[in-house]
Amino acid sequence: MLGSLRVRLPALFLLGIVLAGILAALISLRLFQTYTRGQSIAELQREAQGLSALYADAALRAADEGSGAIDFAASKLELATGDRIFYVGASLFPGQNSGLKRLAEASVPAKVTDLKGAETFEFTPPGSSRSYLAASQPVRLEPDSEPLGAIIVAKPRTELRDQWVPLVWRLGAAVLIGVGIAFLLSWWLSRKITGPVTALAQAADEIASGNYAVRVPTAHSHDEISHLSQRFNDMAARLAATEERERQFLMSVSHELRTPLTAIKGHVDAIRDGLFDDPELERASLDVVAGETIRLERLVGDVLDLAKLNAHRFTVYPQEVDMGVLVERAHASFGEEARRREIDFRLDEDPEAPTIVTDGDRVLQVITNLLANAFRWTPDGGTVSIGSELVDGTVRIDITDTGPGIKPEERERIFVPFISRDNHGTGLGLPIARELAHALGGGLELDSTVGQGSRFTLVLPAAMAAAPTPVA
Ligand SMILES: Nc1ncnc2c1ncn2[C@@H]1O[C@H](COP(=O)(O)OP(=O)(O)O)[C@@H](O)[C@H]1O
Ligand SMILES: [Mg+2]
Repeated sequence: MLGSLRVRLPALFLLGIVLAGILAALISLRLFQTYTRGQSIAELQREAQGLSALYADAALRAADEGSGAIDFAASKLELATGDRIFYVGASLFPGQNSGLKRLAEASVPAKVTDLKGAETFEFTPPGSSRSYLAASQPVRLEPDSEPLGAIIVAKPRTELRDQWVPLVWRLGAAVLIGVGIAFLLSWWLSRKITGPVTALAQAADEIASGNYAVRVPTAHSHDEISHLSQRFNDMAARLAATEERERQFLMSVSHELRTPLTAIKGHVDAIRDGLFDDPELERASLDVVAGETIRLERLVGDVLDLAKLNAHRFTVYPQEVDMGVLVERAHASFGEEARRREIDFRLDEDPEAPTIVTDGDRVLQVITNLLANAFRWTPDGGTVSIGSELVDGTVRIDITDTGPGIKPEERERIFVPFISRDNHGTGLGLPIARELAHALGGGLELDSTVGQGSRFTLVLPAAMAAAPTPVA
């Protein structure tokens, strides 16, 4: 479960988003802290500057007007600034209560008591447990006189924290909401991705266990997954078709074998049981047995041939073959049938027929097969012709007939084993012829017009034989 993509994918998305959220929150918090601290320091500095000018002014006026001015200044200042104002150095109002909290010099950094200029620092006033952020400003009675002391304006650091703590809550809430949305999004995305992948995996399991009928749903999108799903379905369909073909083949073979066997068994049983008192009848019966045996033999031979061809375990014995001679031989072997059935059997002689390197017996087997079909389907008095020609480095052997022709929708089907229009044939002739043509490096072409006739063409590569070396 934990190892599945469905869980790992959203978990990974989520982890990335949580980490990014936390990092962004930390960075913004840090930036905000620096900003508020800078703001506070600037504010403290401004206050320290203003107050030091105010106190210098009050001190000068006290010298002229007496303590009334000091009390007035002190009360005003205290009102304005509360208990965050400190003072270090020599008293500005000797003998008077200025309202300022005077600090021992040791409680602030030395740079403050040096009175060289304005300073910012952190300190903990004596008797307090709070730490303060502070700015100091030296106090001068005249613009270029020596400073007498320094005003220190401080702000508890907890106040700073109070500024950014609410931000932490808000950032936390934002991160949580972001993570929530990211979770929903990643869950949806991972379902979208892993859904089809899971379906594919399950379908693949089905195929592995032999159920080729399984299909995966294909979305009408153009992404990789739907491409994969479509290809997967194609593959399943092909596997199913192959399995169906194999089953059909096996069933056809058994059926084809059984038919002659049943005939033979029937006749043999009859003879053995002495059912024939007429020796003529018994002879006829034996003839049938002999005929069926031959048919059986041919059938088994054909099935074996086809099986070998399909498995590419077929041996070709190349030799030099004079195509002119070969075509003449094929022509001659059907001469008798042509005469008997008054079929005009033409030989289109090619004076330039080449000699090629191929397996002559196999070529003759294909041609004989095609001629047998042509003669079977051409009515008495029709025309069959055979001829060869050299075209673009290939030898083309045409066998043309004036039979019924083959309908376009039949043209692929007749090359499937055991497809035969009449019950005399095995339906293995054309499949074997085509496989043989392939095994010889060529192919078989078909051109046909229904009602006029057909032309089968065996195409072979014209690998020329070397010119015979003259004998001395
Ligand atoms: N020359 C042809 N003219 C018309 N139909 C043909 C021709 N050759 C083959 N066919 C069709 O193709 C089918 C398959 O031929 P083939 O494989 O040789 O098997 P078979 O000859 O045993 O029937 C034939 O039954 C026939 O229907
Ligand atoms: Mg045939």
